[in-house]
Amino acid sequence: PLAGRNTLRVAARAALLAEVRDDAALPGLFAQPALRDGQVFVLGEGSNVLFTRDYPGTVVHLATRGVEVLQERDGVARVRVAAGERWDDFVRWSLGQGFAGLENLILIPGTVGAAPIQNIGAYGVEVGEFVHAVEAFDRRTGATERLDRAACAFAYRDSVFKREPQRWVVIAVEFDLPHAHAPRLDYAGVREELAAMGVDKPAPYHVAEAVVRLRTRKLPDPAVIANAGSFFKNPRVPAAQAAALQREHPALPVWPGSDGMAKLSAAWLIEASGFKGLREGDAGISNRHALVLVNHGRASGAELWALAGRVREGVRARFGVILEPEPVIV
Ligand code: EPU
Repeated sequence: PLAGRNTLRVAARAALLAEVRDDAALPGLFAQPALRDGQVFVLGEGSNVLFTRDYPGTVVHLATRGVEVLQERDGVARVRVAAGERWDDFVRWSLGQGFAGLENLILIPGTVGAAPIQNIGAYGVEVGEFVHAVEAFDRRTGATERLDRAACAFAYRDSVFKREPQRWVVIAVEFDLPHAHAPRLDYAGVREELAAMGVDKPAPYHVAEAVVRLRTRKLPDPAVIANAGSFFKNPRVPAAQAAALQREHPALPVWPGSDGMAKLSAAWLIEASGFKGLREGDAGISNRHALVLVNHGRASGAELWALAGRVREGVRARFGVILEPEPVIV
């Protein structure tokens, strides 16, 4: 049963479940016929996945633990963290050690192993910036590889691991964390929150506190109402299309890119299409944040996926923009 293993609390089942407590078991595990010949899905805390139906293959969960400072050089700490550690626990530990960089990424649900896969990001920072290397088991060869940051090919909610999910199993992540760095305050709301806190020279833990306040106010807590964070990516469209949309809808938030493309706010498009707070049975769109799909109780994965499809179709019909899902759809 997977209901307790995904934050949308979908009651799907997997044919098999393997819980891994020691990386050394991976070659033997993946040599088993069911895993060698069948489908495998690696699941962390299940905070970025929608099971639309039962999974016919094997779900693998890495429950490995360990945080280790490998070296400290020129004011930068290199830290190796096992895939099974909780992301938010690691961020808080790093701040407690006096390491900076991850403060904008506090309170993101999920595991450390999942973080590089979709290159988690929030409040103007993406985790890829602080990744030195990722250790991953290669199912094609049965060997463990160490991919440096360039080989990870990080992009907006994307990486080599996300593009080849049947190949890579992330085992550990090495981070380079500076002792001092310029705080990143440009994302809307962060400076205002710090001002409201009465802080004018923010240390990393001040920025973390500001982000905790912003997230707690804006995003529904999965412990209270089942959800998987943002359900759609902010769509990238040609800058000319973004400009035309903004002329028609001056309130539409647009983030210009450097490559002739621009990112639009999916939340704004969904709200303007009338879907915020919508509920059909137990499937819904949060009334606090239009980008968050919620399960009010017993919605099935198929029902949630159908509602997401209606939102996608509504936004396409009204704005001519195609929304892509952000979580992994199984
Ligand atoms: N907005 C609305 N209606 C809403 C919510 C937001 O119109 O109900 C508009 C507002 O104008 C707001 C803008 O959308 O200013 C942006 O909203 P927000 O700051 O909440 O950010 P987002 O673009 O919706 C992204 C990430 C979040 C991350 C926040 C903060 C994606 C897909 N989502 O959301 O990440 O926490 O920025 O950095 O990029 C996640 O990936 O699961 C996630 C929660």
